[in-house]
Amino acid sequence: MIEISEVSKSFDGRQAISELSLTVNNGEFAILIGTSGSGKSTMLKLLNRLLEPDSGGIRLHGKNIVEHSPEQLRRRIGYAIQSVGLFPHWTVEQNIGAVPALLKWPKTRIRDRVSELLELLHLPPDEFRHRYPDQLSGGQQQRVGVARALAADPDVLLMDEPFGALDPVTRASLQQELANIHKVSGKTIILVTHDVDEALALGERIILIDHGRIVQQGAPRDFLLSPENDLVREFVGQSDIGIRLLGLDKIADRVRAQPAIPGEPIRSNSTLREALSAFVTRKEHSLPVVDEHGLPAGVLHFADLLGKPSGRPR
Ligand SMILES: Nc1ncnc2c1ncn2[C@@H]1O[C@H](COP(=O)(O)OP(=O)(O)O)[C@@H](O)[C@H]1O
Ligand SMILES: [Mg+2]
Repeated sequence: MIEISEVSKSFDGRQAISELSLTVNNGEFAILIGTSGSGKSTMLKLLNRLLEPDSGGIRLHGKNIVEHSPEQLRRRIGYAIQSVGLFPHWTVEQNIGAVPALLKWPKTRIRDRVSELLELLHLPPDEFRHRYPDQLSGGQQQRVGVARALAADPDVLLMDEPFGALDPVTRASLQQELANIHKVSGKTIILVTHDVDEALALGERIILIDHGRIVQQGAPRDFLLSPENDLVREFVGQSDIGIRLLGLDKIADRVRAQPAIPGEPIRSNSTLREALSAFVTRKEHSLPVVDEHGLPAGVLHFADLLGKPSGRPR
């Protein structure tokens, strides 16, 4: 658990973080969102002690972070940033193994860990371990950055706009991978973004900060349905709220158990937002649905976008 208590930090007399308090539970995926300059990066840097607060305290697993040794913090907190920060003259293997090497792991253990992480992030180890950062695409560099943050198996992962510079396709696939890593590893993740769709796609809790203070926090749905002020409304995009709400639910939650109908099927693990798009582009009122094995799973009707079929008489 991470407990941030009334932390303040200013630079040259200007407050970047103002008496901010926040608790993040073990295994939680929390998103810090805010405009540029709102204090997001500063908050992450306070968590891993790249910066020290002017006042207030931060506890990790019940112990003030100033009482953890630098090694302990390095092992327990992984950090990934947008500009990746890979060392250009180090190979992929050396970059990923940087923290384990600092922690004096044996060479064979580091090599095995690098292979394991490259595989996890879909970079074939034999092909990639000896490359240098400039021999990688942006998306591959970002994967290596994530692998490096995971290297010493930290229980907390801090990610500062890790996918910011990527094209939408690569970005979506890395988001998916990160969601899977979170699901299987149970790690605590705090991710910073200014992209509301990324926040909604990934976060269990979204925390909007402005001028170094928390403006609103809550589950994605609450954020969309009850924005507390104009800033939040602007962030969630008033005219797109309905579409974003559809993005939070899966077709599987609404599909009707009916015999298959003709047409190109849509997968039950797609979102209702994707279904809306299919309805509109194909000019259809109903779509055949298949499960993850491609087997018929029923039919989704346009009206089902509004609610569960079982709740209403037909
Ligand atoms: N090292 C620094 N020196 C002086 N000012 C800084 C420093 N780091 C951040 N700031 C200022 O603190 C505020 C918050 O910055 P930052 O946390 O980087 O915002 P964000 O990541 O949300 O864009 C900004 O006004 C920024 O200019
Ligand atoms: Mg920043």
